[in-house]
Amino acid sequence: MAMPNYSILPVVEADLPFLAKFIHASKLRLSINRLLFEEWPNETIQMKMYTGAVTYGFKDPATESFKAVDTESNEIIGYFVLARKRPAQELPEYELGANPDQGTPEVLNPSLFAEIMTASAEIAKATENTDFLDLVYICVEPRFQRHGIGAKLIQLGFDRAREENIPFALCAEAPAHGFYVKLGFEETKRADIDLSKYAPAYSGFGVFRLTGMIWHP
Ligand SMILES: CC(C)(COP(=O)(O)OP(=O)(O)OC[C@H]1O[C@@H](n2cnc3c(N)ncnc32)[C@H](O)[C@@H]1OP(=O)(O)O)[C@@H](O)C(=O)NCCC(=O)NCCS
Repeated sequence: MAMPNYSILPVVEADLPFLAKFIHASKLRLSINRLLFEEWPNETIQMKMYTGAVTYGFKDPATESFKAVDTESNEIIGYFVLARKRPAQELPEYELGANPDQGTPEVLNPSLFAEIMTASAEIAKATENTDFLDLVYICVEPRFQRHGIGAKLIQLGFDRAREENIPFALCAEAPAHGFYVKLGFEETKRADIDLSKYAPAYSGFGVFRLTGMIWHP
């Protein structure tokens, strides 16, 4: 596919329904989610969660949301969310906007959910005493991946981090780990979750790794 011409623009409220579908489609491809949701697929619940997450990202004053838009078709082909974090704030929340103190959302496998929360809290320790820029979401439409759009979006984060002279940190899901390494992020902490415990024997599920990563200006 030829390299698309695209612009990077701030998200507007009218984009939110599309962005929830965009994230939903992306998260359907993530192996761990297959086991995290008790019922699979569960479009109603998943769409509700992702709608909540994109809306929160849009409304939270400490968060900036961007979209990459194909200039010919006007289609949104990338989504990128950054949050400014300060030391006294709550730990970053893993994708569903769930708070460990509020218990497990009943549609999720409670043990796997608890492992994910523990893993993300462990990873968050690397930045708990510092101001930093947090990468909340990055997602490029699959037809347009490997054309430099993800790198261009990350560049926005590098620019923000340089402006404020703060580190830029994230929690990498295993399939995207190599992308962040390529762009110069370094590992802080690793947390491995053995998915085979939650799946039928010999069904192909193994260890899923979350990796804390950081870039310093
Ligand atoms: C991860 C993602 C955002 C990358 O976006 P992209 O537009 O395809 O990335 P780019 O084309 O800008 O890639 C930049 C470089 O990283 C490399 N790269 C991209 N994805 C990679 C991956 N998964 N593993 C290893 N390297 C990768 C590219 O080859 C390119 O290298 P080059 O400069 O030598 O050519 C995209 O694959 C995606 O949306 N994935 C699904 C959602 C996701 O996983 N989000 C991250 C959750 S933590």
